[in-house]
Amino acid sequence: MKTAVLGASGQLGRDLGPRLPGDVVPLTRADADLADPAKLRATLETLRPDVVINCAAYNFVDRAETEPDLAFAVNAWGVRSLAAICRDLDCTLVHFSTDYVFGLDVARQTPFSEIEAPGPVSVYGLSKLSGEYVVRTLCPKHFVLRTCGLYGVWGSGGKGGNFVETMLRVAGQGKPLRVVADQFCTPSYTVDVATAAASLLPTARHGLYHLTNAGSCSWHEFARTIFELAGVKADLSPTSSREYAAPARRPDYSVLATDKFTSLGLPPTRPWRDALAAYLDERRQKS
Ligand SMILES: NC(=O)c1ccc[n+]([C@@H]2O[C@H](COP(=O)([O-])OP(=O)(O)OC[C@H]3O[C@@H](n4cnc5c(N)ncnc54)[C@H](OP(=O)(O)O)[C@@H]3O)[C@@H](O)[C@H]2O)c1
Repeated sequence: MKTAVLGASGQLGRDLGPRLPGDVVPLTRADADLADPAKLRATLETLRPDVVINCAAYNFVDRAETEPDLAFAVNAWGVRSLAAICRDLDCTLVHFSTDYVFGLDVARQTPFSEIEAPGPVSVYGLSKLSGEYVVRTLCPKHFVLRTCGLYGVWGSGGKGGNFVETMLRVAGQGKPLRVVADQFCTPSYTVDVATAAASLLPTARHGLYHLTNAGSCSWHEFARTIFELAGVKADLSPTSSREYAAPARRPDYSVLATDKFTSLGLPPTRPWRDALAAYLDERRQKS
């Protein structure tokens, strides 16, 4: 089996590649640019993969508010081209999406299942939701995998690090940290999401799935736990989304239920706190 991985140099792509069976072909933006459909088609037609896994995305949540065309060029129209190519090549497309397809339901306090109507509150969320729809519409053999709050040792490519690394770096500089305490989700370790995605593929039970670690917390609680587990003293205080005033609105609550995944008899993902401890171990071993 031959699997092509787009976004192979991103934090999820780098953890996914080694967990896949068979012949894995890592593709970077230079090999296959989602914004260049002709080159994308030429690359994939030459490779003739059985499976394409798309870990590539325009991921700049705040910047997307002022450059929606760029976000849509990659996350919607680029993914549309990819889905059509995979359909034409009769291959399976695994596409990653996000909890940011939710947020409109401001009263929400219970995890979202896959059958619930999404409602994004940002350009990024809307562009990713568009990507989901084109994959589900155009490519019969698809897995659309929504995940959330990713962190992995390879950092988040274009963003230069991930939330855990940012917290540890700023605390290490002795600077005060204000982190939102009114946004709840499930921070997820790329190793666990990659392992779960790799276990789902051979089932051929195509469709939309939620794949995150288990449980939920606010970003402030996550930051507090990072410092607790890393044994780092930090000047951390809670703030609100309103006070923080990021350019893009984020969901107040975007916890994803993973029951559909576990109902297939696949091993459930571990709680987010245990996953964070494993991440901190992995980065200690790598340093
Ligand atoms: N990070 C999160 O917290 C989070 C949360 C929920 C869902 N997700 C989703 O999970 C997936 C993986 O995210 P991640 O955190 O691993 O992202 P990442 O580390 O930022 O990696 C994304 C990769 O996409 C590549 N890329 C960007 N634009 C491209 C284009 N036009 N053509 C081809 N490749 C392009 C980037 O390459 P360059 O380095 O060359 O830019 C980068 O290697 C994405 O679908 C994302 O939307 C992420």
